[in-house]
Amino acid sequence: MSPTGFEYRDGVLHAEQVALPLLAAAVGTPAYVYCANTVRARYRRLDQAFAGIPHHIHFAVKANSNLSVLSLLRELGAGVDIVSGGELYRALQAGFHGRDVVFSGVGKTVQEIAQALEAEVQLINVESEAELVVIDVVAARLGVMAPIAIRVNPEVTVDTPHAYIKTGEKGQKFGIPRDDVARLVELTGELSHVQLRGMGMHLGSQIGNADPLRDALPRLLAAIAYAQGKGHPIAFMDVGGGLSVPYESHERDADIDDYATIVRAAALETGLTLLLEPGRFLVAEAGILLTEVLYRKHAAGKDFVVTDAGMNDLIRPALYQAYHAIDPVTLTDGSVAADIVGPICESGDFFAKDRRLPDVQAGALLAVRTAGAYGFSMASNYNSRPRPAEVLVDGDQFAVVGAREQLDDLVRLERMPLQWRTA
Ligand code: LLP
Repeated sequence: MSPTGFEYRDGVLHAEQVALPLLAAAVGTPAYVYCANTVRARYRRLDQAFAGIPHHIHFAVKANSNLSVLSLLRELGAGVDIVSGGELYRALQAGFHGRDVVFSGVGKTVQEIAQALEAEVQLINVESEAELVVIDVVAARLGVMAPIAIRVNPEVTVDTPHAYIKTGEKGQKFGIPRDDVARLVELTGELSHVQLRGMGMHLGSQIGNADPLRDALPRLLAAIAYAQGKGHPIAFMDVGGGLSVPYESHERDADIDDYATIVRAAALETGLTLLLEPGRFLVAEAGILLTEVLYRKHAAGKDFVVTDAGMNDLIRPALYQAYHAIDPVTLTDGSVAADIVGPICESGDFFAKDRRLPDVQAGALLAVRTAGAYGFSMASNYNSRPRPAEVLVDGDQFAVVGAREQLDDLVRLERMPLQWRTA
């Protein structure tokens, strides 16, 4: 079995043992298809790299928030990293407990903080002084002690494929600038309803090498030592997510052993429980977006392949100029260089530009690869398009784990008698 779970058998692409044409006939297109065994293998690989030291993998729910995917990860022993009350709700619905949850995010509302405290989350990662004060007030109102971690911005240079996915650099909105950490530690000591239990960071996403981590870890360790020196009961060291996956054939998978060696050494030095927040690494390659070619079009000397999926279904190419490999589900002769585009009325609505691919005709199925992370979770209803179905494959079985939205879903929250109010 290929490491992604998708492979050709007799010229037809299968998800594990399920032929994708059969799945498309049953569920329709566009559809996201996830391979359960790939998620399991990725989780185990990361977990084993940290065997022997106390650690916990908190899946970043934003990468793929489907309840069945979350449940699958829970069964493997994962916790979750959440960034909203909505993600907390999903996590609890998927059977996680508060103790499995780390709450990150730069703009938590009073309601979300209260929701997290009521759920008894493991840690709330604090991202500003103002937020720390609000957490203390909310915890006092609820009569609880809020377990918090300070998210340090280590201010290191981070090389990511797109500027939008860097977070641990100077001048970003994320985390507490490292020079301000001491002041926040002091303030924590003065507040009566917060307890400083951890220090964390998150450098960015799709980080291809360990250099930023090598630069950042000593800064995180310094912050931990400082807080411990002030008597805070630090138990957790959170190194965030960001492990890269290959999107293009020449790219290589993240070097987990290298990553683990560096992180393990730092964790051992502190003796703390290590928290990891991977999103993409666990689910990206396990998923594809399955779409049907609607039309071939030739215009102004160019070839276009028009698909029934659009940027509302998978926005990464439009938003980050991200590359996704695209393969025909049934191997086809001939080749064409074409723009692969969706039906949406925006020129940014493309999956690939000038891509060489087999000469697929209308009715052919395409697999947009590496779409298990930040695919469906970033989908929208733009152009009033119902969001696609989500399907989980496990061996020779498949199940719809997210029903395709229906037309009524597009309007049901708007169909009410108007109740005009005056100020
Ligand atoms: N922890 C925190 C606090 C984060 O902000 C993120 C991602 C993660 C963990 C997980 O990072 P990962 O392991 O997945 O790289 N939509 C973009 C990615 C944005 C990532 C935002 N934060 C994309 O499609 O590439």
